[in-house]
Order: sequence, then C-alpha cells, then structure tokens
Amino acid sequence: MKLCTTVQEMRQERAQLGRVGFVPTMGFLHEGHLSLVRRAREETDAVVVSLFVNPIQFGSADDLANYPRALERDIALLRREGVACVFTPEAAEFYPEGFATQVDVGGVALELEGPSRPGHFAGVATVLAKFFNIIQPQRAYFGQKDAQQCAVVQRFVRDLNIPVDIVTLPTWREADGLAGSSRNSRLTEAERHRAPVLHQALCRGRTLVQAGERRRAVLEGAMRDVLVQAGLVDIDYVTIVNPDTFQAEEEVREGALALLAVQLGAVRLIDNMPLF
Ligand code: PAJ
Repeated sequence: MKLCTTVQEMRQERAQLGRVGFVPTMGFLHEGHLSLVRRAREETDAVVVSLFVNPIQFGSADDLANYPRALERDIALLRREGVACVFTPEAAEFYPEGFATQVDVGGVALELEGPSRPGHFAGVATVLAKFFNIIQPQRAYFGQKDAQQCAVVQRFVRDLNIPVDIVTLPTWREADGLAGSSRNSRLTEAERHRAPVLHQALCRGRTLVQAGERRRAVLEGAMRDVLVQAGLVDIDYVTIVNPDTFQAEEEVREGALALLAVQLGAVRLIDNMPLF
C-alpha cells in the first residue's frame, strides 16, 4: 500500500493505477468507512482512500481541534483491506496562502445542514473537487449516513461535468442501532447509552408510515416525542423531506426521507432513514 502526502506524489501514483475507486474520509475509521472500501474493492481495479480532516468544512476551531484522529491505526486498517493507496495531504499544501476559490452549491445544500452549519457544504464540495481533480477516480463512494452530503455531491459533479460515478451505500449501524460515526468516540458512557434513541425515533416514523400515516406533522411529532421522552431536548431538526429537493411536503410520499440532528452533550449527531 502506497502512502502519498503531497499532490505531486498522489498524481504520480494515480497514473500507475487502472480504474480507481475513491473513498474520501476524515479518518478515525469505523466499519461504516470500511464498508465503502470493501465495495470499492469489489467494483474497481484499485482503491484510493483519503484521510484528511478538512479544515474548511468546520464551523468552529473547537470542533476542528476536537475531531478525533488516529492516523497510524487507520493506515493499518486500510492495509488489511487491500487498499492500493492512502492520500493524507497536508493542510498547508492543500490550502496555501492565497487560496481563494470555493464550490458554492445551491439547491439541496441550502436546506437542513446548510443553515445549521454555514459554509459546511461549500467546504465539502471544494475539498472533493480538489480530490476528484487530483485522483481522477472512475467511482467515488459515500455513505447514506450523510444523506444530504450525498445529494450535494451528486448535484455538483453533475453541474460541473466531473466524470465520476457517485455510489451511495447504506448506513452501517452498531448492534443497538446507533449509526457509526467518528464522533461517537466523543460521547460519554451515559450519552453513548442514550444515543440509540435517534435510531429509535426514525424507526417510530417508519412504523407509522407502514401503518398508513402520511401527515408529515404527525410523523415529525411522533419522532420528536421519542427523543424528548428519552431526555434529548437539544434538537436541531426532526423532519421528513422529498429526497430530490430536501424540502418538506405536507403529505409524505414514496421515497420520503426522515432526518434528524440532535446535540448530545458536546457532540452533534445526525441520522436518517428512508420511510418506505
Ligand atoms: P467522514 O465523516 O469521515 O465520512 C467519510 C464517508 O464515510 C462519508 O461518505 C460518510 O457518509 C461515510 N460514512 C460515515 N459513517 C458511515 C456509516 N455509519 N455507514 C456508512 N457510511 C458512513 O463525510 C466526510 O468524512 C467528509 O465530509 C468528506 C466527504 C471526507 C469530505 O471531507
């Protein structure tokens, strides 16, 4: 497995590889990340994984500083997965002085996480545009865990004619339903114990839809109740949207997606689930 730390090394390495499957990550890998890597291995000649805590997608210096890191462990994990190349650029080279361009996505990026985390999706789209240009992958793999991020990426690669297939894979969950996330490592034991209630709230919404309920307000209320009854009151949003627009509609329809964002202690957790 080749380790590249500069753009030049990465470009040279890429030239030796055939059809590349790319898995962008911020490291502190868990089974969710590895599920993307495994699928990429099945579908392409060579897998490239980036480990880069992208400073421009964080809203606060604290959140960036507290993001968990375990570079050596991540590299060892990826070696075992048969990855061809790991790219760990330095922020100083990636964003040198004078860096002044960003990919500003509208539409789906303006909903939910958009206003909650100003600048976040521009940071994500900008770093991915750089990665796609450097690595030139045939396919790039993303997790449904970050459903809105997937929609934003689909949008901007289409809009900018970037020749990459975006593949979205299901959310990997712990046995108790909690969606895998690098941020879970920052939960206290008591918070970790309560965290599966996010998944329980989503399941409640889906159960009601299966029973025939279609009124969004009723479904959102029921999901919110599950959170509040478990003592999770710092709720950013609980909503159901049309997955094409990320806008809420009065009556939920086939394909509708339930999403929530909740603050649990120092950690902001997001999760989502298709309701049909
Ligand atoms: P990160 O949070 O490290 O996630 C990297 C990829 O793993 C994303 O596509 C994410 O959706 C996916 N992922 C995370 N948890 C998952 C889970 N439980 N099941 C399945 N997939 C999961 O998302 C980012 O990094 C960054 O925004 C990035 C795209 C790398 C740009 O900096």
